Amino acid sequence: MSKWHPFSWQDKTCEQQPDYSSAEALANASDKLASLPPLVSEFEIKRLKKQLAAAQAGHYFLIQGGDCAESFAECSADSITNKLKILLQMSLILTYGLRTPVIRVGRIAGQYAKPRSQANETIDGVTLPSYRGDIINQADFTPEAREPDPQKMLTGYHYSALTLNYLRALIDGGFADLQYPENWNLDFVKHSPMADDYLNLSNMIGDAIDYVKTIPGINTTNLQQVDFFASHEALLLPYEAALTRYSEPHQRWYNLSTHLPWIGMRTAHLDHGHVEYMRGIANPVGVKIGPTMTQAWLIDLLDTLNPEHEPGKIILIHRFGHTQIGEHLPALIKAVKTSKHPVLWSCDPMHGNTKKTSLGHKTRYFHDILSELQQAFTIHNAHDSQLGGVHFEMTGDNITECIGGAMDVREEDLIDGYKSTVDPRLNYEQALEMAMLIVSSVSKIPKPGS
Ligand code: PEP
Ligand code: CO
Repeated sequence: MSKWHPFSWQDKTCEQQPDYSSAEALANASDKLASLPPLVSEFEIKRLKKQLAAAQAGHYFLIQGGDCAESFAECSADSITNKLKILLQMSLILTYGLRTPVIRVGRIAGQYAKPRSQANETIDGVTLPSYRGDIINQADFTPEAREPDPQKMLTGYHYSALTLNYLRALIDGGFADLQYPENWNLDFVKHSPMADDYLNLSNMIGDAIDYVKTIPGINTTNLQQVDFFASHEALLLPYEAALTRYSEPHQRWYNLSTHLPWIGMRTAHLDHGHVEYMRGIANPVGVKIGPTMTQAWLIDLLDTLNPEHEPGKIILIHRFGHTQIGEHLPALIKAVKTSKHPVLWSCDPMHGNTKKTSLGHKTRYFHDILSELQQAFTIHNAHDSQLGGVHFEMTGDNITECIGGAMDVREEDLIDGYKSTVDPRLNYEQALEMAMLIVSSVSKIPKPGS
């Protein structure tokens, strides 16, 4: 294999990259980015990797979630707080229900670049480049808005820094203290059919914590500190490379734009640019796998991305769709077992379950999402494997993009409450309900041999 460096992907075919009109403007923006401080540290990344290694051994459960695509316009205190709240609430439910500590990872502070199935979009006979995320171009359908602009990489860097800064302030300031989960309640949940269940659970946890505090010698300061990590799809290679730095203390290269970058389904080709870039960084990496993934391709990917079989390095995020998971997942589980590669399996029940409504909205049905998740737990269990995480597109806001759930979102509700520029997300109540249903489904899965 040829020698790796942060720009060695430039010698390969790279999918899903914007066609910048000025090489000089791209070089200027990349140089400026490369001169700026990183957004996260290798010390945080090592802590995450250690927790992921423990998750591979069944000692932690991973929850990863957030927007399909963040937008610059929605970088506000409320939106960041609401995203943190819903992740904290879901993790509370999962920690309590699964009796396992949870690793929280947001699709946040850098989830600005999107792969698109079509390079161009045509409306009323006019063809323009597709919208590829705020770090590349703008969603408005005009030639100026759709022109990719490398300066947006710097804007994306700044918005990521603002988001991380506020998240850190909330977490370090005690907002995430497990002893006060009432801080995280959002007003509109009071009217939800799930409100009573959630409040009962939160009270039970409060009682358990009060009880623990009465035991002499038990230190509850740990409850005040929670870890929260950031992740995004490492799609826009000039951005990722400019924020890739060499760590002298660790003698390794790290992508310091995020803790956990992932490779999407459309860019996981073995000899192409994204895999080339990802094979050289020491971060843990996610790999999305869908129905086109073969056993041989997957094992080649693992050999390339994790030749040393390092624990905590690889998260396989499967997203087959509820009708296809049963056909595809078992063979891949067996192949990975045979290869002896350590991986953390996670299920993304969103990306294989996208449908279009009669009015043209992209949506997902709550029961399809739940069905894929339930099948994922059952299939892993039946193959003596462990589903160690879940991956959602969701938001803490009161939007209506996915259909169903206890609040009964209908097709006609999508007309007013649809905000996503890309994929449909679970709203706050649907996400909370999903976490509760995960817990009740897991408790019903028979243990092997019983
Ligand atoms: C995504 O996670 O937003 C995405 C595009 O996923 P996938 O690569 O699995 O289609
Ligand atoms: Co998406």
